[in-house]
Amino acid sequence: MLALIPSVEPSERASVGQSANSVKTELQSEYDAAMSALSTGPTAESLDVTLPGVPPVVGGLHVTRQTMYEIQCIFATMGFTVFESNEVETDEYNFQLLNIPPEHPSRDMWDTMYLEEGQVLRTHTSPGQIRAMQRFHPEPIRIILPGRCYRYEAIDASHESILFQVEGLAIGTGITLASLKGVFEAFARQFFGKDRGVRFRGHYFPFTEPSVEIDISCNCEGRGCPVCKGTGWLELSGGGMVHPIVLENGGYDPAEVTGFAFGMGADRAAMLKHNIEDIRLLYTNDLRFLEQFT
Ligand code: PHE
Repeated sequence: MLALIPSVEPSERASVGQSANSVKTELQSEYDAAMSALSTGPTAESLDVTLPGVPPVVGGLHVTRQTMYEIQCIFATMGFTVFESNEVETDEYNFQLLNIPPEHPSRDMWDTMYLEEGQVLRTHTSPGQIRAMQRFHPEPIRIILPGRCYRYEAIDASHESILFQVEGLAIGTGITLASLKGVFEAFARQFFGKDRGVRFRGHYFPFTEPSVEIDISCNCEGRGCPVCKGTGWLELSGGGMVHPIVLENGGYDPAEVTGFAFGMGADRAAMLKHNIEDIRLLYTNDLRFLEQFT
């Protein structure tokens, strides 16, 4: 404005000059006041340093994720590394290469969400077994394979359409069902406590032979608690010896090597460890629930 004064009508120059000057003085004094306030900082009157602060909201790991990490750490002490695999699978990997042909009645064990063009949302982490074998053969394998699976379920306190599994796979020479039992016992003692036991029950899975269901002894030692319904045992995992056809599909020679596999429910492991009675609590993002585990 001051620079423009020469172009103003001579009769108006004095008054324009005056108001430009007063704006300038006002701005300058506001600026000086602000600068000096900044350099002296808050005073005892302007800030009560004895008031409690507002704690920042810090996120935490979900209890299922914590459980998966804990499982991974325990198996790491036994030499298992983590291998991750696809959530969107093909029918071939989710079923056929696991010795489950189309129309095979055992498909009823997995209520499947089908996508287009022969694709499915994986119903279990077992297709990752095939992917790991095809990647690593003919080397020995010792991996766990954590991940999210999907099922077309009627949802209730123990069934959700999303679930987490931790698959285990060991392939090499001299591996027996006793290896699986030993590994699982070591895991159960570290995860649930020193005096927990493991029991195998004969079962059927198309991709393992023989197949078992793996139970963990209940804290109540069979005294009739509601969690184990008085049986003294809690179902935690499926497992067995990798079927020769599956070994072949993965590129191994069943005459040379054997292997064990298991598929553990990670939601279930979290529920058993923390006495959570309804699986839906793990998926509804209620902070009152989640904050109990941070
Ligand atoms: N995939 C099986 C299930 O989801 C569990 C399993 C894994 C059984 C590996 C045997 C071996 O029910």
